[in-house]
Amino acid sequence: MRIVVADDADRVAQEAAGIVERFVSASESPALGLATGGTMEGLFAELVRRHRRRGLSFGAVDAYLLDEYVGLDRCDPNAYRSVVHRLFACHVDLGIGSLHGLDAQAPDLGAECTRYERKVRAASIGLQILGIGSNGHIAFNEPGTPFDSVTRVVELSRQTRGDNARFFPADHSVPVRAMTQGIATILAASELLLMACGAGKASAVARAVEGPINDSVPASAVQLHSNVTLLLDPPAAQGLSASSPVGGNQILA
Ligand code: GLP
Repeated sequence: MRIVVADDADRVAQEAAGIVERFVSASESPALGLATGGTMEGLFAELVRRHRRRGLSFGAVDAYLLDEYVGLDRCDPNAYRSVVHRLFACHVDLGIGSLHGLDAQAPDLGAECTRYERKVRAASIGLQILGIGSNGHIAFNEPGTPFDSVTRVVELSRQTRGDNARFFPADHSVPVRAMTQGIATILAASELLLMACGAGKASAVARAVEGPINDSVPASAVQLHSNVTLLLDPPAAQGLSASSPVGGNQILA
């Protein structure tokens, strides 16, 4: 596992954009896994900037979303597909039909999860971007999720709903259910890039990286993957024991 501690959240976004740019430029038909959440906003802005200023093209990319809320209209501004469209896809040359996600309006959500799991596996994600929840979740895989889990409907924890409430208007509550790729689905990607910023993530990051690998910290599953980069700002890295990183880690200041 490579651990990169960048100077601040802006540098985290730039470093992440560099990794995405290298991946997109090196593949003929890149399958890129996208995450959502506040941490991704800087990355999306930087990718849009590189598209506008340097002509970074997403024309050959197929992008796959990790998860989606259940109970929001397709056009709700907080539906993850809407968020990614608004912050990224509509500003770049991503092809029509090249942004893939879960349809939370499907009549049979179980069947929709099965369809999407097959689609993501068939795509073979080359680079999967991840955030991390303050409780150690990845995508919407909450603590207690088995590592062999695949795409399915899940209940959101009180902590996750509380954390994500800041995105919703005061008179709207955060949905109680979501659809998410499973941990096995995520681990099937060739490369993982996990981004975390802020002191609120420090404990989750430390437990994910240095703690035991178990389902109480879903993000600890990334220790099982052979090609992982963690990109952190200093507050998110403050729980890591730089003097005794787990074997193979590289901590760059
Ligand atoms: C949501 C998403 C996760 C993301 C998390 C962190 O719960 N489902 O994929 O990692 O938010 O979000 P933020 O970056 O806003 O802290």
